[in-house]
Amino acid sequence: MTTTPWKPRVLLVDDEPREIELMGLVLERQGLEVALASSPAEAITRLGQENFDAVVTDVVFHGYSDGTRVLEAARKLAPEAIVVLMTGYPAIEGAVSAIKGGALDYLQKPVAPVVLAATIHRALREKRMAQNSLSFGELVDILSELVAQTIERVDPYTAGHGERTRKYCRIMADQVGMDVATRERLELAAIAHDYGKIYLDDLTFLTKDGPLTAEEYKEVQRHPLLGAEKLPRHEQLTDVARYVAEHHEKWDGSGYPHRIAGEDISLSGRILGIVEVFDSLSTKRSYKDVWELPKTRQFFSEQRGLAFDPDLLDIFLDLLEVHGEEWLRAPQRDLERAHKA
Ligand SMILES: [Fe+2]
Repeated sequence: MTTTPWKPRVLLVDDEPREIELMGLVLERQGLEVALASSPAEAITRLGQENFDAVVTDVVFHGYSDGTRVLEAARKLAPEAIVVLMTGYPAIEGAVSAIKGGALDYLQKPVAPVVLAATIHRALREKRMAQNSLSFGELVDILSELVAQTIERVDPYTAGHGERTRKYCRIMADQVGMDVATRERLELAAIAHDYGKIYLDDLTFLTKDGPLTAEEYKEVQRHPLLGAEKLPRHEQLTDVARYVAEHHEKWDGSGYPHRIAGEDISLSGRILGIVEVFDSLSTKRSYKDVWELPKTRQFFSEQRGLAFDPDLLDIFLDLLEVHGEEWLRAPQRDLERAHKA
């Protein structure tokens, strides 16, 4: 099962067709759906007819500051949308009045499309996080988008890793009779468990051709805590952050970052630790092939009571009896699908 990250719709307004077409293409590559309007009038008509999450408009059209008309129309017709103004003229008063008029930001041309896309994504995310209560589906969307825009871009091998881990966590949660609220938090942690890797100082070794050096391994060990710290601040994500922090702890206390052991690691953290290792073993890397099922089973059996909670591991090994072959092939299937898309 794959969740497509939510794609915000952006209305891009400028009277220089080549410029906005190019910008539109870049924004689409950054995970936004873009509609173009070449005049304020066209933009205002579209705002009355369609839904947009963001409006990005030039300020000066043929010598007139008609961009502010787009801003006013957006405030009336699409009050939920964020508005970003772009201008070729540095004018601080203009910026102040635009922001007072409800614009999120005032960018001076030439605007780098990648920066614009990041501004839009961040603003929309913060807006959604500021809502008091987010549904499980919304939180899934927010975290999936976060991962898709960050770590999956840097390391394409991780495409689908979060989703597959989530699926195996859900099945394990059902097997142990976990309550729905905890299971949902576990699923969210599964989606975002490796998010912290994007905050490591050196990202090159994530895609390195070969095993990590001791130094690199030490650096990579920072990712569970970084992930827990950098997840969006929201009370509904407090437990999620804890599970993310725990996903490399081991049953015998030899894991990281805190070397906690046994049931001091939450049930969710212990489940995540098992299934995440399984999915990593079944992912082909330039320096390693996918492990076959007997080798995988042997590894897990040897780690029973060491790295992994023995009772949970037995449940997982039973699941591998049924689904093992299919699950081992899943990363390759997802990678091929990602290449085609
Ligand atoms: Fe990890």
